[in-house]
Amino acid sequence: MLKGKVVLVTGGAGFIGSHLVDWLIRDNDVVVLDNFSSGKISNIQHHLENDSFTLIKGDIMNRETVKEALKEVDVVIHQAAVVGVKKYVERPLDVLTTNIFGTHNLVEESLKRGVERFVFASTSEVYGKSENIPLKEDGDRVLGSTSIARWCYSTSKAADEHFLFAYHEVHGFPMVILRYFNVYGPRQETSDYSGVIPIFIRRVLRGEPPLIHGDGEQTRAFTYISDAVEATVIAASKKEAIGQVFNVGSREETTIKHLAKMIIELSGNNSIEPKHISYEEFYGESYEDIRRRVPNVEKAEKVLGFRAKTPLRDGLKRTIEWYREHLMN
Ligand SMILES: NC(=O)c1ccc[n+]([C@@H]2O[C@H](COP(=O)([O-])OP(=O)(O)OC[C@H]3O[C@@H](n4cnc5c(N)ncnc54)[C@H](O)[C@@H]3O)[C@@H](O)[C@H]2O)c1
Repeated sequence: MLKGKVVLVTGGAGFIGSHLVDWLIRDNDVVVLDNFSSGKISNIQHHLENDSFTLIKGDIMNRETVKEALKEVDVVIHQAAVVGVKKYVERPLDVLTTNIFGTHNLVEESLKRGVERFVFASTSEVYGKSENIPLKEDGDRVLGSTSIARWCYSTSKAADEHFLFAYHEVHGFPMVILRYFNVYGPRQETSDYSGVIPIFIRRVLRGEPPLIHGDGEQTRAFTYISDAVEATVIAASKKEAIGQVFNVGSREETTIKHLAKMIIELSGNNSIEPKHISYEEFYGESYEDIRRRVPNVEKAEKVLGFRAKTPLRDGLKRTIEWYREHLMN
């Protein structure tokens, strides 16, 4: 699919980025640019001695670093961002600055370098609280007030998408935008700043009840990491993808209540009962939840030939096994 290229993965020490590196390095040279704000050296440790691997510890906010990282690069996969719902609420300035200006630096320098392809990690958050389920790439965005910090992440990624569409139109910039829907799997951070799956797993493996925000009837379509990696690699190589935006997600819609039950059952700690807490208790006032979030996946199937394959139950089993080994050590 992608062979003999030099690929820059920004955020390559993070969750999705490091899995991409594992895949790409088989047939390509890989450069990782990461400031280790949430990324971990343990995620890429196994590549440090590989001649096909280069690690640059640095920030996408720094133009000179970005230029240096791009020197030999054919393809860019841009994953670096300030991520995690709790961070949107507590650190909106970091989210906006890194996600908008950092991405802009990288796009401008990639354009100058004349890269063959630029794949951007966007998000289902871009749709905001749209109730047009399943969410379609050309559907409306529905957001709350700018005084609610929780929308800053959605806005930052949407601003990036606008830049990319504009650079594509004006300069023919060979970009592809992927809107990931709740990706989960081994190596995802388990702190309160991470996603619901690793947080629930961490608590259950420690014998603590998962804390469900609100009534637990809100739904998500969770995407296993290997599916997200496959879609990304296809987007980096398929010609028809250029200039387009795609949803990357599973169609399996699950309530958070059911998710908590599954994690309890699969981890074998059946005596645990989930607990409900209010959104204010966890996030403070600057929060609004999204009730349903399910992708329309037709475009990705048609143009990329991609369909998420991993049932939630199988992905959860693998993820719990990984955390059992890594959290307990
Ligand atoms: N995980 C998901 O469910 C999900 C869903 C939608 C979109 N995304 C997008 O996918 C991408 C990867 O997310 P992830 O879940 O792997 O998160 P992550 O936090 O594990 O990875 C982000 C990486 O970017 C690095 N980084 C952050 N700021 C940087 C900077 N200024 N300069 C250089 N490196 C920097 C971090 O150290 C980290 O390694 C992000 O762009 C995110 O917005 C993720």
